[in-house]
Amino acid sequence: MANSLFRTKKIENILAEGSDETHGGGGLKRVLTLRDLTFFGIAAIIGAGSFSSLGAAVFDGGPGVAVLFIITAIACGFTALCYSEFASRIPVAGSAYTYAYASFGELFAWIIGWALIMEYSIGNIYVAFSWSDYFTSFMSKVGVHIPNWLSTSYVEAKNAAASGGNPADIDAWNNAPLLGSLRIIFDLPALIINLLITYLVYRGIKESRNFSNIMVMLKLAVVLLVILVGGYLIFSNGLTFNWTPPDDNGVRSVMPNGFGGVMAAVSGVFFAYIGFDAVSVLAEESKNPQRDLPRGMILSLVICTVVYILLSLVLTGAVNYRKFDGVGDPLAFIFEKQNLNVGWMQLFVAVAAVIAMTSVLLVFQMGQPRIWMSMSRDGLLPPAFQKIHKKYKTPSFATIITGLVVGVPILFTDKNFVLDFTSIATLFAFVLVCGGVLFLPAKEKISGRFHLPYINSQFIFPLVVLGGIITAYSLSKTYFSDMFNFDFSSNADYVAGKLSFMDLATPNITLIIFWISALILAVVTMYKKYSLIPMMGLITCMYLLTGMTKNNWAWFIGWLILGLIIYFLYGYKKSRLATGAA
Ligand code: ALA
Repeated sequence: MANSLFRTKKIENILAEGSDETHGGGGLKRVLTLRDLTFFGIAAIIGAGSFSSLGAAVFDGGPGVAVLFIITAIACGFTALCYSEFASRIPVAGSAYTYAYASFGELFAWIIGWALIMEYSIGNIYVAFSWSDYFTSFMSKVGVHIPNWLSTSYVEAKNAAASGGNPADIDAWNNAPLLGSLRIIFDLPALIINLLITYLVYRGIKESRNFSNIMVMLKLAVVLLVILVGGYLIFSNGLTFNWTPPDDNGVRSVMPNGFGGVMAAVSGVFFAYIGFDAVSVLAEESKNPQRDLPRGMILSLVICTVVYILLSLVLTGAVNYRKFDGVGDPLAFIFEKQNLNVGWMQLFVAVAAVIAMTSVLLVFQMGQPRIWMSMSRDGLLPPAFQKIHKKYKTPSFATIITGLVVGVPILFTDKNFVLDFTSIATLFAFVLVCGGVLFLPAKEKISGRFHLPYINSQFIFPLVVLGGIITAYSLSKTYFSDMFNFDFSSNADYVAGKLSFMDLATPNITLIIFWISALILAVVTMYKKYSLIPMMGLITCMYLLTGMTKNNWAWFIGWLILGLIIYFLYGYKKSRLATGAA
């Protein structure tokens, strides 16, 4: 049994199947160029993370959050290089799922495929909710008021009414029409945009591509306008002092809440970067995947990193960072009357946000069916998932199921819940992708194809870990002793019963596991001489995972257990490797 769980697929077989014309419709259309792929990357990256959750990130970290954008970009950059190595070796649609099948074997491949549902489908629920927020506010700016009970989720309205929150959500709860005793509250714009996107993706890649390229150009134009207008006003109004705001003791600093404050923003900032990896699922629609997928991924990541750093500087220069408390539309907020006071920019930003999020929805909604298509080809999902529409040449059944997986939970869940889920699962997939590269055999260099340079990490990686230990200790002398302190009796929230033991213990436990793993990896790499880039990707993503809370882990582990049950009931028996079909 153990052998069959870790049965791997040969790369030659994966490639042969990728071009197989027998999957009911004659394969996908190869129409995408490097420019299209880069645009897809940007389309997937710049969205709800920058337009919605950037406010909270800036509030936590102050101007120093720009540093976190650089750190997260470095982590994502290493991961993108690992994705690129896989994408150039295995240019088929399944992305990280397929890569794991070739390196770790079937069980891990299934686990990654299952985790990616969180990134692609569940992440889109968050984006659809954020899209609806901006759309509703845009409509009200042009004089059309959508009732609150039709523009928020039931859960959000219920929570707001119970514990005090956003007035619009409380209004939705109090004024919703009743069906018997049930309040009718749902996010209609979120449902409609999901329906429209599903239709567009169902209709086909070419139409989707044209639509996506136009949206990316528009959103980049408006984001650049925010940077230019905001930047100009910061200097002309002499607001640069906002970049070094006073901390609680009146000392001016770019990190008024210290590095800890900056790190508190990790999940929001990480969410802003998710999406570069989605480029890899377009392997079978790309004209020259081995050359263009890696370039598209890295180019889009570099462009978005520059945009994010400039955006966070403009935000924190325009307004004191403390004003971003609870601000959900930070880019529009800086142009409000009490801030930079540019009315027309507020409208522009609202339009850009709607456009930006539409393109995120589009890319992820295209990615999910293509991953399922690969899983179905391997026998791990029913055959219907690989069915390609005769006329539109898209994975039609899988596209409709994706629409349902995004659409139905919109009725039953809320924004924050799905955001956390997405981040933890995506980081988990990134860890496995970076780890997977270490297991690949050396390959011959072929000109025109991406090739991940091998840098021997035998000494460099242990030095990096040592450097991390010294840095952590010099930033806080109690860093390591705090990690082993499980006595929370002085914590007021714990004493008041607001936080449980595990709520407080989880960060310590994850940090202990992280440092032990780092030390083990440092020792192992001294013997195995692993390649430096995947090792750096692995360790940086593992570090970002330490920012996840107890609830994130609990839900994520529950999700994995459900996935394993399904695998053993279906995929384990039906796998093409098990039935001898592959
Ligand atoms: N990075 C994507 C966004 O921010 C998921 O919407």
